[in-house]
Amino acid sequence: MGTEPNPEMDLRSAIRGTGSVRQFTDEPVDDEILYALLDDARFAPSGGNRQGWRVVVVQDIATREAIGGLMRGVWDDYIAIASTGNTPFTSIAPSQYELTTVTPGKTPNDLIDRIAEVPVVLVVAADLSLISMMDKDLDRKPITGGGSIYPFCWNLLLAARSRGLGGVLTTLLARAEPEAAALLRLPPGFAIAGTIFIGHPVHQPTRLKRRPVEAFTVIDRFDGEAFGITHSDAE
Ligand SMILES: Cc1cc2nc3c(=O)[nH]c(=O)nc-3n(C[C@H](O)[C@H](O)[C@H](O)COP(=O)(O)O)c2cc1C
Repeated sequence: MGTEPNPEMDLRSAIRGTGSVRQFTDEPVDDEILYALLDDARFAPSGGNRQGWRVVVVQDIATREAIGGLMRGVWDDYIAIASTGNTPFTSIAPSQYELTTVTPGKTPNDLIDRIAEVPVVLVVAADLSLISMMDKDLDRKPITGGGSIYPFCWNLLLAARSRGLGGVLTTLLARAEPEAAALLRLPPGFAIAGTIFIGHPVHQPTRLKRRPVEAFTVIDRFDGEAFGITHSDAE
């Protein structure tokens, strides 16, 4: 499969048809292609255009395995909590409570179990000194800073899609940031935003399940009427 950008893929199809890919063929992704993906992704927006993303291309197998080991512990906790019907690690429920009420098992995970073989493994970090965290002084955990990093991550995955590649973003490693920081020599003041896996997809999912607009859009206030239209060409 070629990795030239597909001029036939229009923006709307890309937005609506870029599903997560977690299984990759053995075909490698050349550095030139990875560079081209990063070169597209860098046009992402960020607060003040400060572009606080930093990327580590993790090539070393031992480092990959170590990262996978850190992700494994978080994944097991995640699955155990999710199996109780709760959303794991929300910033509302105390994590300690979540973790003492469940017993982690070992659920297969293609990304973690085959981390040495994934063609591209990237750790994306954020230089916190470049990010305005507008909600940092509120009486809850901040969220807005991610808005300066995740558009870059998504651009990267869209760029991959445009070349017939696929991938997925995960945030598991952020829970093990102190250990990962030592492993990757992450400087103080930097945060791990995610790990991105990219390669040639075994299967490219394009029919994505998402809630309709009416399910998440309201008029005027949060207890307002759902925002909807009568459509004739519902897709
Ligand atoms: C912030 C974030 C974290 C995610 N973490 C993981 C993860 O840890 N493992 C994983 O396999 N997928 C992860 N995903 C991918 C989601 O599972 C995926 O986007 C969602 O299930 C929808 O599936 P689809 O994109 O194939 O339609 C993550 C996605 C986002 C945006």
